[in-house]
Amino acid sequence: MIPLLIHHPAPDRERRLGDVSIGGREAYLKDPPPNRGSPNRKEHGKTHDRIGFTTLSSVMREARGIDPDSFRRVCAQFATGVAVATVRGADAAPHGLTVNSFTSVSLEPPLILICIGDLCQILPYFRTSAFFAVNFLNAAQQSLAIAFAERTDNRFEGIPWLEAENGSPLLPDSLGWMECRLAETIEAGDHSILLGKVVGAEARSGTALAYFNGCYGQVE
Ligand SMILES: Cc1cc2nc3c(=O)[nH]c(=O)nc-3n(C[C@H](O)[C@H](O)[C@H](O)COP(=O)(O)O)c2cc1C
Repeated sequence: MIPLLIHHPAPDRERRLGDVSIGGREAYLKDPPPNRGSPNRKEHGKTHDRIGFTTLSSVMREARGIDPDSFRRVCAQFATGVAVATVRGADAAPHGLTVNSFTSVSLEPPLILICIGDLCQILPYFRTSAFFAVNFLNAAQQSLAIAFAERTDNRFEGIPWLEAENGSPLLPDSLGWMECRLAETIEAGDHSILLGKVVGAEARSGTALAYFNGCYGQVE
């Protein structure tokens, strides 16, 4: 959405936007695409430009030099579901961590992503395994969300699990799961983005576990 809103930045605007990078869009902000459009498109661009200038300038003022705590506080205002990402180690042991960075990326081919912090002890398993899974938690699985966010060596201890077709660990009763083949790992700041091609999936109906402002909730 943001690139659309800055279709024709004026030079001073360009400078102000260009020195802030949000979501890796820095190059785009510095070099907005030429206007490729028909008269209709032009009009469309102008409309957005007017709206965008107000919106973006206030966002950018806030974003410049943002400290990690403020960044975290703003991110916490985005409500998400909760998933446990799972993988098998080289010794076939199951590993997993709680994530809310799940995003569906593409329908055809079916691609999803999760982001894992570079300091996460089990990141190497995700980087080296051909397959991983994401398990979407239901409202009754809050204890699993807490357990899989703990800093322990074996989060799977005492937790029942099943195997997906390619061996990825699945949590029974979750609202849905996807098994993915690792398509690409992208280093992004202090996290790694794992892009997965979905090779198996199942959905159930139920109440979803939600996460908002540091608290768990539920969505019917
Ligand atoms: C609701 C929730 C969502 C989380 N989402 C992520 C995430 O998307 N990526 C991530 O790296 N850590 C996320 N975490 C933190 C990890 O679950 C936790 O820090 C990690 O398992 C610790 O790993 P380590 O002990 O291997 O360092 C989340 C934690 C919670 C409670």
